[in-house]
Amino acid sequence: MIIGKTITAQAHPNIALVKYWGKRRKEGNIPAVGSISITLDTLYSRTSIRLEPALRGDRFIFNGAPAPEAQRRRVQMFLDIFRRRAGRAVFARIESENNFPTAAGLASSASGFAALAVAANRAFQLHLEERELSRLARQGSGSAARSIFGGFVEMHAGTRPDGSDAFAEPLLAPEAWPLRVVICITSRQEKSIGSTEGMERTAATSPFYSAWVSSSKDDLAEIRRAIRGKNFRELTEVSEHSCLKMHGLILSARPGILYWNGTTVELIHRIRALQRDGVPVFFTIDAGPQVKAVCLPEALSDVVGALKRVDGVREVLVTGLGQGARIVEGDG
Ligand code: DP6
Repeated sequence: MIIGKTITAQAHPNIALVKYWGKRRKEGNIPAVGSISITLDTLYSRTSIRLEPALRGDRFIFNGAPAPEAQRRRVQMFLDIFRRRAGRAVFARIESENNFPTAAGLASSASGFAALAVAANRAFQLHLEERELSRLARQGSGSAARSIFGGFVEMHAGTRPDGSDAFAEPLLAPEAWPLRVVICITSRQEKSIGSTEGMERTAATSPFYSAWVSSSKDDLAEIRRAIRGKNFRELTEVSEHSCLKMHGLILSARPGILYWNGTTVELIHRIRALQRDGVPVFFTIDAGPQVKAVCLPEALSDVVGALKRVDGVREVLVTGLGQGARIVEGDG
């Protein structure tokens, strides 16, 4: 265990192209479906941990201010896993910051828990390998398992009741197929219904939920093939299908959940118009109103030019594909 020394890790958010929605077990966020994502660069969470034997509980500073109690408890429960593994009940001071808007469908919990898993692994000197870190990150937030790795990443749903086969693994390095991602921010408000609650409601009430789960295997097989063959047309088809199917499912919950605003819809139409003009681009949308347009590098300026002119778009962020979670300070 490294006492009294600050260890900092950095991780990037990821965007699922074949989506995770629904859990086969709530405890530990064991997913009902596998998913495949791309890890971004430019955007990041940077998380520091310092173990301090004098503390009576974990302290958690988020974006420069003490985090709300619910968030602090979620972090403390996550670190309990590391304390149990290390056999030491030492609490920590944790500071985390994001360089992008939080809780607006940009998966800040994914990068945050992935960074914390890597930092805590070092602080408690557990020497866990990445697959195991992805299992642990999953227990903070399901999508966090994928941010342990860079580039194209697959999260397995697994079948074992204890979730030991529900982990992420890399499919393709970021340099191997350097796609670009244009994130269109359409609102800065926090989303009204978080993913965890949205998933629970969907699984409990949507008549389409079992079809969502059973059809996911075909989507995963298709996207693996698209990634292996670097086939952008196939990647477009399966990604838009998974995204629209997930939102259709979420709409069919009771009461139905609509994460989009009017600008979200305008952006979908604009991207479809670009496709008709032969521009290699597709959209994907998570549990919020932001639209992420994924394109080949040569299409980037056309895509940015078209999307930033859509009424209601507040900001456009451009990123590429990035690396997995790693220690950036306090190493050695
Ligand atoms: C729509 O990972 O945030 O972004 O496991 O409850 O923390 P919890 O949910 P979370 O859900 C992500 C949902 C999604 C799709 C995806 O990233 O695959």
